[in-house]
Amino acid sequence: MATSARQRIGVLTSGGDAPGLNAVIRAVVKAASGLGWEVLGIEDGFEGLLGEKSYRVLTNSDVQGLLPRGGTILRTTNKGHFGSRRTDLPPEEDPYVQAVNAIRELGLRGLITIGGEGTQRIAMELYKLGAPVIGVPKTIDNDLAGTDRTFGFDTALQVATDAIDRLHTTAASHNRVMVLEVMGRHTGWIALHAGLAGGSDIILIPEIPFDIEIVAEKVRQREASGSTFSIVVVAEGARPRGGTEMYVSDGRLGGIGHWVGSKLEELTGKDTRVVVLGHIQRGGSPSPYDRLLSTRYGAAAVKAAQEGVFGEMVALRAQEITMVPLAEATGHLKTVRPHSDLVICGRSLGVSFGDGL
Ligand code: F6P
Repeated sequence: MATSARQRIGVLTSGGDAPGLNAVIRAVVKAASGLGWEVLGIEDGFEGLLGEKSYRVLTNSDVQGLLPRGGTILRTTNKGHFGSRRTDLPPEEDPYVQAVNAIRELGLRGLITIGGEGTQRIAMELYKLGAPVIGVPKTIDNDLAGTDRTFGFDTALQVATDAIDRLHTTAASHNRVMVLEVMGRHTGWIALHAGLAGGSDIILIPEIPFDIEIVAEKVRQREASGSTFSIVVVAEGARPRGGTEMYVSDGRLGGIGHWVGSKLEELTGKDTRVVVLGHIQRGGSPSPYDRLLSTRYGAAAVKAAQEGVFGEMVALRAQEITMVPLAEATGHLKTVRPHSDLVICGRSLGVSFGDGL
């Protein structure tokens, strides 16, 4: 069947990858092809809309077998040319204007932007310039506002929990302190959930600045009560009271796990080891939960395009898929509330958050 310009949509993946990106792409292609629409896969995030344009038509056969596959077949870019919009640029040099023009030239009736907060900010800027965008919330960090869950988080949680389980047996065998550094740039969702699911003794998150002496005291108390090992989970963005996040280089977070490990060894005299889980949390096959969430998001995004709902993001609220304005998703990050029930639950079981409460 010939496809007119009004029956074509685009899809792109942007920002750090997360398990489930391919599952969203698959759902978009399948749902769109059910409507007789053509899908253009824009490559390398928003960069694919610049210059010569980099895209390909995606058919049902292109997405066969994609559901369990990690990464993204469209590749992804962190921001690229799309930093904060500069108002001093002439239109021909403004990447935002170029992207909107490309969306028009390609005849897209909708552009599905799969990504985290940075991606949805770019999408909102494009929407303000007239582009028909629909966001899909992704990030292993689960810190995007407007939705209860981003896809990718559940898989990362599984990986981090598995790591804690494994560290438990080796820590107990050697009477050691094991420190696990997990991702979580500005928020402690992975550390908190995995820490509780894995039964760790100390959880350090950006939302609750910690005192290293209080952390050391927890280890000593455990020792005194006969527990000769301790498991510490620390989010990469956690910081000591009165201090700042730690960076390995130009804006790349890292180092807090090793800092906590060496301080604990010094303060407690316990043999301590540090594991930085890193990108293992982002790679590999999505969990069944993430496959399902990604599939629901992809189908809902196509439905939004069909109904002409743009400038919004698909979201999960109280187990139901709904739509929220992009402005709501990008205004602020969704952080762990220090008095939320999960934190209170942890405290009641004796988990230390390093703040002495
Ligand atoms: O996906 C979000 C995130 O996992 C952050 O927690 C982390 O700081 C960042 O990505 C690292 O990404 P990259 O190495 O791709 O810059």
